[in-house]
Amino acid sequence: MLTIDQDRLLSEIDALARITAVEPPAVTRIVFTPADLKARAWMRARCEDAGLRVREDAVGNTFARWEGSHRAAPAVGTGSHIDAIPNAGKYDGVVGVLGGLEAIRALRQSGFRPRSSIELLIFTAEEPTRFGVGCLGSRLLSGTLTADAAGRLTDSDGATLEIVRREAGFGGDLERVTLTDCYYKAFIELHIEQGPLLERQQIPLGIVTKIASPASLRVLVEGSGGHAGGVLMPDRRDALCAAAELILAIETAARTSGAIDTVATVGICDVFPGAVNSIPGRVRLSVDIRDTDLQRRDIVMRAIEAASHSISAKRQVSINSELLNADAPADCSPAIIEALSQSCRKHELNFLPMVSRPYHDSLFIARIAPVAMLFTPCRSGYSHRPDEYAAPEDIVRGTLVLAETLAALSE
Ligand code: GLV
Ligand code: MN
Ligand code: MN
Repeated sequence: MLTIDQDRLLSEIDALARITAVEPPAVTRIVFTPADLKARAWMRARCEDAGLRVREDAVGNTFARWEGSHRAAPAVGTGSHIDAIPNAGKYDGVVGVLGGLEAIRALRQSGFRPRSSIELLIFTAEEPTRFGVGCLGSRLLSGTLTADAAGRLTDSDGATLEIVRREAGFGGDLERVTLTDCYYKAFIELHIEQGPLLERQQIPLGIVTKIASPASLRVLVEGSGGHAGGVLMPDRRDALCAAAELILAIETAARTSGAIDTVATVGICDVFPGAVNSIPGRVRLSVDIRDTDLQRRDIVMRAIEAASHSISAKRQVSINSELLNADAPADCSPAIIEALSQSCRKHELNFLPMVSRPYHDSLFIARIAPVAMLFTPCRSGYSHRPDEYAAPEDIVRGTLVLAETLAALSE
């Protein structure tokens, strides 16, 4: 009989939420900042207290292993991330990490003994905040990103990942982070849905069949600055006005793709020099584009490129885009989906097969192992904001189904 300790799980979620760089309830934990390092140390201690063997790789991915009787066999993995974007909530990523740990503790307490090892994996920098690219840890684990390219990534202060990770205490060879494709026999990520469908349909669990494909760009618009009083309108080459047109063109490209599944977001707009009485001479934008269909996403990207050219010509500004990533979607494993479904049926829990529009580390682990994801509802679909909320009973249900499925796959 498996018992999920709801009180322990919720109090740990609360405790982790208090490790934040900003005033609670907002959570900000950017990779390799003091808050992230403190949260990592706290997590390591929780894993060791649970009797797991903990190791960290050169980029800080953390593995906590419950050795199975068949040590040489590929492991069954579960996990997610604990880094958080600026002004986030306390459930994104954390439910999969602390839920994964609680699932393992419940299995240990029940007397279950796995044949294949069961391993909790806490990925480094799922969020793109610091280095511009999301899923840094899993891109390296899956060999999607080379050690060289990763080491050269820079943050907004110009510090390279190579330097920043070493200062954070993670030395070692980035080349050795990659896992072989027989490391995991299965990987399951528990996560809040980050959308409204489960709540709207009053379904307690979602089983992910596919993860949508993300892409992102950094755009630099350069015009000509100057005095806000002295330069007359016909003489202006205002970078922000050009950027504003581009932002609306990006929105139009996504809205008119022909499918509700296309989304595009400009989440960062840095204006230089940022003075009331100075014409913006330079603007940096971030662009995030996603779709369940790779070809349609790429059509939208080409439309954005065409809009950049025409706005640049019309307004006499330069617009340069740097492609940070453009990833393919991932299909989840039918065998793991079936194992999750069996556990749901056993507990008479209704579930919804669904696509994940947000990306997750599972998108990349899918390149080296069979993966699936289990979603729990979150209030109003809110995520990436401090009022993100998931109900205790939903988190516990997800953790129970995760635990049973880990057990089934590790036998
Ligand atoms: C991950 O946080 C995402 O942006 O989908
Ligand atoms: Mn997130
Ligand atoms: Mn997440």
